[in-house]
Amino acid sequence: MMRAAITGAGHYLPSKVVTNDDLARLMTTSDEWIQQRTGIKERRFIEHDGIGASDLAVPAAKMALDQAGLAPVDVDAIIFATLSPDVNFPGSAVFLQHKLGCRQICALDVRNQCSGFLYSLSIADAWIRAGVYRNVLIVGAEVHSTGIELNERGRDVAVLFGDGAGAVVVQPSDDDARGILDVELHADGVGARELWLEAPASMYVPRLTQAMLDEGRHYPKMNGKAVFRWAVDKMPEVAAASLARLGMTSQDVDLFVPHQANMRINQLVAMKLNIPQEKLVHNIDRYGNTTAATIPIGLSESWKEGRIAKGTRVLMAAFGAGFTWASAVVRF
Ligand code: UT7
Repeated sequence: MMRAAITGAGHYLPSKVVTNDDLARLMTTSDEWIQQRTGIKERRFIEHDGIGASDLAVPAAKMALDQAGLAPVDVDAIIFATLSPDVNFPGSAVFLQHKLGCRQICALDVRNQCSGFLYSLSIADAWIRAGVYRNVLIVGAEVHSTGIELNERGRDVAVLFGDGAGAVVVQPSDDDARGILDVELHADGVGARELWLEAPASMYVPRLTQAMLDEGRHYPKMNGKAVFRWAVDKMPEVAAASLARLGMTSQDVDLFVPHQANMRINQLVAMKLNIPQEKLVHNIDRYGNTTAATIPIGLSESWKEGRIAKGTRVLMAAFGAGFTWASAVVRF
């Protein structure tokens, strides 16, 4: 059976480091509160106005293509996972296609927030196994810093998010034992309003009013406790289902790369799955929650550090807005 394999990974973080103490100058919060509740020490923000998600994606994509031994002209399809596209439309994938100098190929945006990377992986896997495309570039990239409320009213959400990009290249593999072994995707719209950015909205006339701006309805809102409860329930459930389908146990997992929303969530999920903490990858301490970018950044950094090598079996899981959640098992 033909499989799809991840053959390259890359990441890029903007250079501007924003510490918890920096945020404590803008709102009532503290390094201690943020670290205890989330594990975040610092995050990155874009250096100046005019940098979009597709700009962060360019260096991440180039690094992934280099590792796979491909040039931009070799790419057959781009899948761009983001909740913070450069502009409302068109999607960020077309901006990336143009900036990279790819051919006039397929360019698709995926709007599945924290699960966006794993949803994209499932699409790439299906395309490749069906013979539709050969060289698929997946990017997860977010610019959150321009869309969060960096003041007292927004403090519960603003301290969580950072900017960044991660990318992988997916290609056919003849080796049946290597590649994307399993992906499972879920959603339940019962949680759609528990974590959302409401305005501008096509269901309102006009889509954005001064009153909405005054009320801050153009900033993300989250019921943190509800999201936390769902995440620690659904991430282990979907990950365990993937492992069971493959006849694997947690002992067969070499590395666990979960979405990075909260260090406590990931430690609890790993514990529930019986995966020791030393197999757990985290970057939330340095980058905060970079949403669709967290998992590809984790893969890329782990690969560069030698934690991923030929044969490494990697489990991934994500939960986020929608609600949406997903898991994947990949053998490198
Ligand atoms: O990637 C998308 C998916 N997102 C997630 O998975 C996030 C899931 N949720 C969480 O990670 C946690 O719920 C949070 C980290 C967001 C919050 O932690 P928590 O332990 O649930 O705190 P809380 O919301 O219950 O807030 C506790 C207190 C409140 O004060 P009172 O009501 O106890 O007096 C908040 O007003 O902390 C207060 N608070 C803050 N204090 C200092 C809220 N935000 C802040 C802040 N600094 N930034």
